[in-house]
Amino acid sequence: MSAPDHARLLRRSLAVITGHQDTGGAYPACPAYPVYRYAWFRDGSFIADAASRAGAADSATAFHDWCARVVTDRADRIGRVTAALGRGEMPDEAEFLPTRYELDGGDTGDSGWADFQTDGYGTWLWALSGHLGRHRVDPAPYREAAALVVDYIAATWNIPCYDWWEETQEERHGATLGALYGGMAAAARAGLADPATAARVTGGIERLVAERGIPGGHLTRSLGSGAVDASLLACMAPFSFVDPTDPVGAATLAAVERDLVEPEGGVHRHLADVFYGGGQWPVLAGFLGSVHVRAGRTADARRELDWIAAQADDDGLLPEQAPGVRLLHPEHLEHWETKWGPVAKPLLWSHAMYLTLADDLGILP
Ligand code: BGC
Repeated sequence: MSAPDHARLLRRSLAVITGHQDTGGAYPACPAYPVYRYAWFRDGSFIADAASRAGAADSATAFHDWCARVVTDRADRIGRVTAALGRGEMPDEAEFLPTRYELDGGDTGDSGWADFQTDGYGTWLWALSGHLGRHRVDPAPYREAAALVVDYIAATWNIPCYDWWEETQEERHGATLGALYGGMAAAARAGLADPATAARVTGGIERLVAERGIPGGHLTRSLGSGAVDASLLACMAPFSFVDPTDPVGAATLAAVERDLVEPEGGVHRHLADVFYGGGQWPVLAGFLGSVHVRAGRTADARRELDWIAAQADDDGLLPEQAPGVRLLHPEHLEHWETKWGPVAKPLLWSHAMYLTLADDLGILP
């Protein structure tokens, strides 16, 4: 295999992100895949963070402006949710903030698709805080929306919701808690969250995970389960909930590497993943590489960067997942291809995590 042309693919990745950004600031998850033409807070926040790191400050600012509008437009709804929970009543699921929106910021309507997820709002606080500090952007226009999101997270962080992959709702998930922890901690440092509120949430998450989240010495996909999910990598980088050199972080990294990482590079989501047969995700290779950087394993991080680059097509576009070395459940591939067509490409989040890992490795031009 020839050496990847990272300089070219990094330029291309930023162009894919900025080129597909909606005029109103939203990023579609994948413009070419029928069910991904929406804007997710989770995907979008990582995409905006990558754009911000790569010098496309205006693109990131436009996204954060869009998020602030989306949130403030729903101030009444947030107030109803927090008030109900404050009275000890569980709101109707449709009252919670959705996970994805139309590009113009409207609700997508009842698509029958998992919609109650809180991690994206924590991820937004984290990405916003980083962007404001990095580019010395005036925080004033974001204070109202950030305060609403802080209230919303303070009221909802402990409620089971769908995981990153929108598959299971019955439990509280490690990656969700990590994103909420990272977002609240970052917002407090940036002066966007009331410090006492943020400390109550981050302390609550620490206690909950210590009590129920590390039964075998490592973080788990969900409280009460023993299994890992590669989304847990985000608890180390970027969310700094645990450090890969501490015992829990080191054990989590080791379990993910044992179960989900292919020796040639590339990372599966979880062992039961049947979506397109369960291939390897560039997004997760990016998180793994960033964790390696934090653990001082630069050569391993570089292997993941090279693996991501090798998944790009001739036009420099990255997919959501690549069959790579091996599918976990190949018998399921045909079902998904028949249902929704080929794997989503370009996935803007894949391009974002490639840029982010390159930045962590210090090779972003
Ligand atoms: C993934 C989500 C992601 C969405 C859009 C889904 O298949 O499970 O994590 O946010 O696609 O990229």
